[in-house]
Amino acid sequence: MNQESEDYLQLSKKQMKKLGYQTIDMIVKHFEELRNKPVTRKASRLDMEQTFREPIPDHGTNPEHILDIIEKEIFTNIMYTDHPRFFAFVPTANNFISVLADALVAGFNPFAGTWLESSSAAQIELVTVDWLRRIFGMPEEAGGLFLSGGSAANLIGIAVARRVKLKDRIANSVVYFSDQTHSSVERGLKVLGFSEENCCKLPSDDNFRLSIEMLSQKVKEDKISGKIPFCVVANAGTTNTGSVDPLNDLASFCKNEGLWLHVDGAFGAAGILDSKGEKLLQGIDHADSLVIDPHKWFFQPYEISCLLVRNSMLLKDTFRILPEYLKDTDRSKEEINFCDYGTQLTRSFRALKLWMSLKCFGLNAFRRAVTKGFKIAEYTEHLVRENPLLEVITPAQMGILTFRFISDLPDERLNELNRSIVDKIIIDGYAMVATTQLRDRVVLRMCTINPRTTEDDIRQTLQRITKFGQELF
Ligand SMILES: Cc1ncc(COP(=O)(O)O)c(C=O)c1O
Repeated sequence: MNQESEDYLQLSKKQMKKLGYQTIDMIVKHFEELRNKPVTRKASRLDMEQTFREPIPDHGTNPEHILDIIEKEIFTNIMYTDHPRFFAFVPTANNFISVLADALVAGFNPFAGTWLESSSAAQIELVTVDWLRRIFGMPEEAGGLFLSGGSAANLIGIAVARRVKLKDRIANSVVYFSDQTHSSVERGLKVLGFSEENCCKLPSDDNFRLSIEMLSQKVKEDKISGKIPFCVVANAGTTNTGSVDPLNDLASFCKNEGLWLHVDGAFGAAGILDSKGEKLLQGIDHADSLVIDPHKWFFQPYEISCLLVRNSMLLKDTFRILPEYLKDTDRSKEEINFCDYGTQLTRSFRALKLWMSLKCFGLNAFRRAVTKGFKIAEYTEHLVRENPLLEVITPAQMGILTFRFISDLPDERLNELNRSIVDKIIIDGYAMVATTQLRDRVVLRMCTINPRTTEDDIRQTLQRITKFGQELF
C-alpha cells in the first residue's frame, strides 16, 4: 500500500476490485464447501493468543496477506452455525442474497436513523416490517422496527409495556412468564429496572407451556395483596423444546385483566409459514408486542430481529426525544425517523437483507424451507423412536426434538453421560448437537431448521450419538 492511499484511507479502483473479487470468492467457496467441512472447531485460548496477540500496528500490511490470515486463521476457528449438520442452539441457515445485501449496506453505509438521511432505507424498513405484520395477521396500525436480535427486541417490547401500563413507575408491578422463557427476557427486565420481586416466574406444565390456571391464580393473589400486574411474556416456540404457550387463551386473559401481552417468537414465530406451525401459533396476532428474529428461521445473517407493536405509535411515545441538533430531521408526520422507535440513533440498514432475499426467492421459497425444518425434525423423531438406545423426551415441535441416550445407569450418571456425548461430538466435528436440561434431566437437543440438512445427515448424526453413548457406557 502506498503512502497516498494510507493517508486517505483509500484504495485504488484496481485494488478495490481485486480485493473485492477475492473476498467474494472466499465467501462463495465457503458456501460451496461448507457441507464437507467439520462443523466444530474450537481453539484453545492459548492458541488464539499466540496467533492473534500483537501490538497495534503503526504501519500497514498488504491486505491480501490479511485476507489470507482471515481465511486460514479466523474463519477456520469458528463453529459453522450455518452448516447443514449444526443442530445446536438455534442454527442460522444464511442465504447468499442477504450476504450481498449486508456487503452493499457496509459499502453504501446509509444512516437508517432518520428519514432525512436515508428516506429509501426508511421506506424499505417500513415495507419489510409491514410484510411481517401481514404474515402475523396484526392490524394495520401495528408496526415496528428492526433491531440487533431477540434480546434487544424483548427489552424494547417490555419497555413499551412498562411505559403504557405503568407510566414507567415500576414499584409493586409484576410481570409473569414461565420457567421456559428465554433468559434475555429476565436480562431485559433487569436492565429496565425490575428486580426479582417484580418478576413472577411460573413453573411450566407437563408440556413446558405456561399454565393459564396458575397464571390467573397468581394474578388474582397479587391483585389482592396490592401488587400491580402489568405484563405477561408468552413463548411462541421456546428455545428448549419449541413449545408454544396457549396464545389465544393468554390473549383473552390479558385483555380481561388489562395486561400487556408480549410474545417472544424470536425463534418460533417463523413457524407460521408452515401449516402445522400456523395452527400451533394461533392467537399470535393478538400480541401487544411480538418479537421475530429473521436471523433465526428467516435465514438471514446476524444481526436482525423485528419487534412489532400492535399500535406502533406507542413505540414513539416511549422512545422519542428531539434534541436541538436533530430538529432538521423533524419535518412531517409522513417522514418516519426510526431513531424515535427504539434506543439506537445511528442504525444500520438491516431491512435490506430481508427485503432483498424475500424479493429474490419469494415468500413461497421461505415457506418450503420452514416446512422442511418441521419435516426433518419429525424424521429425526422417527429414527430416535426406532433406536432402543435413545429415548424421545419431547416430540418434534417447531423443528426441535429432545431425546437422550438411555441405559440402566442412575439418572445422575445418565445426565453426565449425555453431557459427555456432546464433548465427543465437538471433538468429532461431523455434526454439532448440544444438551439442555428439562427439569432434572439432561437431554440432547436437535434444532433442524436448516433447509440444506438431508435425511442422511440426520441418520449419520444419530449413528454417531449412539456409538459415542456406547463407548462411554
Ligand atoms: C426464544 C428466544 N428468545 C430470545 C432469544 C435471544 O435472541 P438473540 O440471541 O438474537 O438476542 C433467543 C435466542 O436463541 C430465543 O431462542
